[in-house]
Amino acid sequence: MRLRKKPWARPELESCNFVVTNPTELKGKWNEFFKNDNEIYLELGCGRGKFIAENAVMHQDKNFVGIDIKDEVLVYAKRKVEDVFRDNNKEINNVALIPMEIAFIEEVFNKDEVSRIYLNFSTPWPKKRHNKRRLTYTTFLERYKKFLKPNSEIWFKTDQETFFNDSIEYFKEAGFKIEYITYDLHKSDFKQNIMTEYETKFSSMGMKIMFLIARL
Ligand SMILES: C[S@@+](CC[C@H](N)C(=O)[O-])C[C@H]1O[C@@H](n2cnc3c(N)ncnc32)[C@H](O)[C@@H]1O
Repeated sequence: MRLRKKPWARPELESCNFVVTNPTELKGKWNEFFKNDNEIYLELGCGRGKFIAENAVMHQDKNFVGIDIKDEVLVYAKRKVEDVFRDNNKEINNVALIPMEIAFIEEVFNKDEVSRIYLNFSTPWPKKRHNKRRLTYTTFLERYKKFLKPNSEIWFKTDQETFFNDSIEYFKEAGFKIEYITYDLHKSDFKQNIMTEYETKFSSMGMKIMFLIARL
């Protein structure tokens, strides 16, 4: 996706009280940020934020952290969270957004600090030499394991079949058990789905969405 530079994006993010620009300082202290000990659900590559906003407003007993590298995209996630919470007459107290590169994720969370990870339409990196950049690649899964609680889950969905099938192998290799799997999420018996921006676009083009839950 080509994005026009938005010089206002960084100042808008920095002035928002649920955007965290110094996340390494909260490692092991996220319960102080959220002011409770509720479970933390993490979305990696949250994009424009529809999924995290709707999930967080619906599940106020969980804390949600969304990460994306692009300020120009995350700023829309910030606005989306504000809009969805306003429309539901709720205060925003269970969301944090972080502008950062996911490769540094283990510097942000301590052992057992996260209960679930969502990977929604992560970049598929189809070229063999780029496969290791995939957010489901074993080296990434090993990073996540450093802060995932025992028995925690990764929810992964994509429209890219090769990426999906390769990821099944990565999960198994890293010691995860595939607990739920469908090659056509929208026709499956899985009823808790929240659509993301990419999902809305791809499914409107007739593409099937693949989804799995991997348990540690
Ligand atoms: C294809 S988009 C999907 C966005 C959203 N999850 C959805 O389903 O609509 C992938 C997003 O992940 C972000 N992203 C990809 N790799 C990343 C990385 N290594 N660190 C942080 N963000 C990343 C991109 O900036 C982009 O917003």
